[in-house]
Amino acid sequence: MLIDLTDNAAFGGNSFWPAMAWLRENDPVHRHESGGGFWAVTRYADAVEVYRDSDVFSSRYGMRLDTNKAAVAAVSQRMLIVSDPPEHTQLKRVLNKSVFPDHSEDLVRGIVRELLAEALAAGEVDMVEVIRRLPTRVVCALLGVPRPEWDWLGATMNGAFEGDDEEVRSGNHAEIFLYFTELLRERRKNPGTDFISRIATDRRDTPDGEQELTDEEIIVNCNGVMAGGNETTRYSAAGGLLALTRNPDQWALLRSRGAEVIPTAVEEILRWTTPGVHVMRTAMRPARIGDRDIAVGDRVTVWNVSANRDERAFPDADRFLIDRTPNRHLTFGGGRHLCLGARLARLELAVFLEELTKRVSAVELTGEPDYTASNFTTGTSYLPVRLTPSLVPTA
Ligand code: HEM
Repeated sequence: MLIDLTDNAAFGGNSFWPAMAWLRENDPVHRHESGGGFWAVTRYADAVEVYRDSDVFSSRYGMRLDTNKAAVAAVSQRMLIVSDPPEHTQLKRVLNKSVFPDHSEDLVRGIVRELLAEALAAGEVDMVEVIRRLPTRVVCALLGVPRPEWDWLGATMNGAFEGDDEEVRSGNHAEIFLYFTELLRERRKNPGTDFISRIATDRRDTPDGEQELTDEEIIVNCNGVMAGGNETTRYSAAGGLLALTRNPDQWALLRSRGAEVIPTAVEEILRWTTPGVHVMRTAMRPARIGDRDIAVGDRVTVWNVSANRDERAFPDADRFLIDRTPNRHLTFGGGRHLCLGARLARLELAVFLEELTKRVSAVELTGEPDYTASNFTTGTSYLPVRLTPSLVPTA
C-alpha cells in the first residue's frame, strides 16, 4: 500500500498511517521516483542513523521536500536549520544561550491561564483557535515583541505559512522580515534582556576570532524561531487534547495522578502527534542505509511520523499511553539539528496540561475534528469541544 509522499492531500487526515506501516514492513528505505526522486526512511533505527550522521547527510541544500532552492540558497549557512558546520555549530551556541530565559515558566503559565479562562468563559469553542495563541504569544514575548503586537505578529506568521495563496504567504513573509528589521534597529539603540537584544550583542567563535552575528543572521534566525515554534507546538497541544478526549481512561489517569504523570504525558503527546512529518537531507558522500546504497547528491527523507510508530522501538506503538516509558521519540529530530525549542515546547505542553487538569473537569468533542493537509507540518486544525470547569480549581 503506497501513497505519493509528495502529495500534501494524502496527509490531511489519518489515512497516511497505514501507508507508513506498509513502508516500514515492506520497503523501509524506499526509492520514491516521483517528486524528483528521493529516498524515504521509515524505520526508527534507520532514522536515528541519518540524524546522527550529519557529516554525510547535509542540511545546507534544504531540510524538506518541496524546497524553494533559491530561497534556501539565500539563507543557507546563515539560518540554523539549513546550515552545516562550522557555521551551524557557531550559530547554535549563540542561539541556545538565549532561547530559554529564566522567566519562561512564569511567562508560559500567565499566557495559558489567560487563554483557558477565555475558553472556559465561552464553554463551547474550537480549541485550535484558543491554543494557536499560546506558541505565538510565547515566542513573541521571548523575542521581545511589545505586547500590543503579539496577536498581530502571530496572525501574520500564521498567514505566512497557511495563507490561501502564494501572494498572501509571501506578502506576510515580507512583513515579518520588515518587522524584525525594525525591531532589531530599535534594540540596537535600546538593548533589553530579550532574545533579539541578547543575540545581537553576543559573539560567536570563528577561526578568525570572536564575531557578532550580522543583522541578516539575526533576522533570519528570529524568523526561524518564530516559524519553528508556532504550528508545531499548536498541533501537539491540540492533538494531545484530542487524544485525551478519545481515550477517557488516559484523561482520568492524568486528572487522578496529576503532576506526577505530566512529564511522561508530554512525551507521549509529542510522540503521538509528531507535527514535523518529515525532514530531508542531501548525501555528501556515498552511504548505506539498511540494504540500500545512497549516492552523492541523493536526497534522503526521514519520516518522523513513521519512526515514532515503529513497533521495533515502541511496544504498542498505536496506543496512546500517557505513562509510557521509555519514550525516545524523534518528534524533535535528532543529532546536531535537534530542535532548538524542545525545552520551551515541553514547558508549554506541561503547563498547558497542568492548568487544564486543574481548571477543567471534562472535555467533550462536539463535532468532527479536522486536520491540516501537509507532508511537512501536520496536525489538528479544528477541534470543537465543550469544556466543563472544575468545581474547585486548585491554584
Ligand atoms: C512540539 C513543538 C516542536 C516540534 C514538533 C519541533 C520539531 C522540530 C524538528 C523535527 C526539528 C529538526 C529539523 C531538522 O532536523 O532538520 C526542529 C528544529 C528546530 N526547531 Fe523545533 N519543534 C518544536 C518547537 C520549537 C520551538 C518552540 C522553537 C523555538 C522556540 C523551535 C525552533 C526550532 C529551530 C530554530 C530548529 C533548528 C535547529 C537546528 O537546525 O539546529 N522549535 N524542530
